[in-house]
Amino acid sequence: MQGEQLAVFRGQDGQAYVVDAYCPHLGASLAAGGRVVGNCIECPFHGWQFQGEDGKCTRIPYAEKVPDFASIRTWPSCEVNGMLLVWYHREGVGPTWAVPEQREVATQEWVFRGQTKHLVDAHIEEIPENAADAAHLDFLHGTAILGGSDLRYSKSRLWEFMKHRWKGEWCPEPEPNEHCSQLLLLHSTSIFGKHIPALDLKVSVRQVGPALVFLILEHAFLGRGIILQSVTPLEPLLQKVVHTIYYQKNMPAVIPKFLLRAECLQFERDITIWNNKQYLPKPLLVKEDSSIQRHRRWYGQFYSQKGTGLPAQEGLDW
Ligand code: FES
Ligand SMILES: [Fe+2]
Repeated sequence: MQGEQLAVFRGQDGQAYVVDAYCPHLGASLAAGGRVVGNCIECPFHGWQFQGEDGKCTRIPYAEKVPDFASIRTWPSCEVNGMLLVWYHREGVGPTWAVPEQREVATQEWVFRGQTKHLVDAHIEEIPENAADAAHLDFLHGTAILGGSDLRYSKSRLWEFMKHRWKGEWCPEPEPNEHCSQLLLLHSTSIFGKHIPALDLKVSVRQVGPALVFLILEHAFLGRGIILQSVTPLEPLLQKVVHTIYYQKNMPAVIPKFLLRAECLQFERDITIWNNKQYLPKPLLVKEDSSIQRHRRWYGQFYSQKGTGLPAQEGLDW
């Protein structure tokens, strides 16, 4: 939803509302000095008030009558898993699926343990496509996290005694969840060639729609939790990525903090690749890369039908 300016507010009814930022009267931004009055937002310029629910203008302080057609655009939104999510469709079609609630987050069995934010200079599809790229797992993410995220040094001989192994296969979900896909990642670590079972981690990755990923972490004795990843396009080749971790309340906070740090360190290795790579509409793939092609077909559903052609040709239209 690059290029859209929105104002988000919580009404007195506790409900969060998302409306266009620019007031239809003379264009002031409701997001800069607007005030919540009941379940309305009041423009800071001349005091027009708009209802969060349907955008209708309910009051113009100096006018005798509020014209029927005076209203502001509202955006479908929902609050789930501690996030406020906005539905965007290029042709204005309303929501066709909902984001599931993670029970443990809703019941506060798992609690907030940290958040990271990254800006990535890449085509929107690069980040989700990573899930279907099995071959990069061992090559890019196999070197010990001790080696850090700077690719000039991460492959240093110094860290060769420690290796991460990843096993995982990506697949789309059947109807009615065709907007979702799954990846079960089994992570193991070896030190001097010896597998250390205490460092095994199971990560069930579920992509829900084009911009949201649930990563459920399970460790034999360090408990369970979730990393939520969101990708928001700010400009055609600029994505904002947020990772938020919720983890079992009864586990020391240092565990989820370490897991989030480790995740982000691996993610930053991908970022170095993304920030410098090119998006290839027709990549040169071998048989073992076939899930990348399947991922492209699957992700194609999120591009506008009325676009100028294939997603790859449309390229920068996001
Ligand atoms: S610009 Fe918003 S009330 Fe006039
Ligand atoms: Fe990756």
